[in-house]
Amino acid sequence: MRQHLIVANWKMNHSVQEGLSFLAGLQHEIKSKPHGDIVVCPPFTSLYALSEAFEETHYQLGAQNMHWEETGAFTGEISPNFLVEIGIRFVLIGHSERRQHFGETDETVNKKLIAATLKRMFPIVCIGESEKERHQGKTFEVLQRQISQALTEVPRETFKSISWAYEPIWAIGTGNRATMEQAQEVAEWIRNFISKNCDASIANIQRILYGGSVSEETAAGFLSQADIDGLLVGGASLDPKRFAEIIIASDQRISTK
Ligand code: PGA
Repeated sequence: MRQHLIVANWKMNHSVQEGLSFLAGLQHEIKSKPHGDIVVCPPFTSLYALSEAFEETHYQLGAQNMHWEETGAFTGEISPNFLVEIGIRFVLIGHSERRQHFGETDETVNKKLIAATLKRMFPIVCIGESEKERHQGKTFEVLQRQISQALTEVPRETFKSISWAYEPIWAIGTGNRATMEQAQEVAEWIRNFISKNCDASIANIQRILYGGSVSEETAAGFLSQADIDGLLVGGASLDPKRFAEIIIASDQRISTK
């Protein structure tokens, strides 16, 4: 059975103080332990500062990115070891904003995925097509390339720790979310692809998330889809009330998938 995975991607928002207020707000809204995994990805400067405050809660912290090397002359980068040292195991890899603005490629995504799995982390690999690619009918071609290259030489025994976040680029931060049917169609395709190219038992374990303009109103609909096991939430995750409603929506649809 796949537990829900609900991820808040704060991007470059919320200082340490704002992160602490968010947590207080979330705890005010939700008293009981959520059934799924709830992960908040703040900016790097907040990770250590928030780790103590998160320790006593039902929520976990994740990183928005990392480098694949352990140490070295990589100015401005963060080693997987530094994350593991402070107890961070969830990490987003290959978010489309990293690909668009910071030169991330399928090759660097692959290196990061290998590093993350070797460190026994829980990588969430972001994949998705652009608007142009969708209009050209290339969605599945793009996803096939992104998934195949991401998994190259990743140790097979670590496959179960990997989650996929389907985030169509045209839906991110635009308010123009995918329809439930579009998201389910792609999630099902991803699961079949993993099943055929890896094996069925892994495809059955790996969690597939949808991301792109998810709101408290649409969360339940996405989570009701057969192959969608979680959500990657940007804008709506910045407000504790809105994020709490998304967590509640997830709890009301406890996964039996
Ligand atoms: P959004 O961002 O929910 O604001 O569209 C999602 C993401 O980029 O992960």
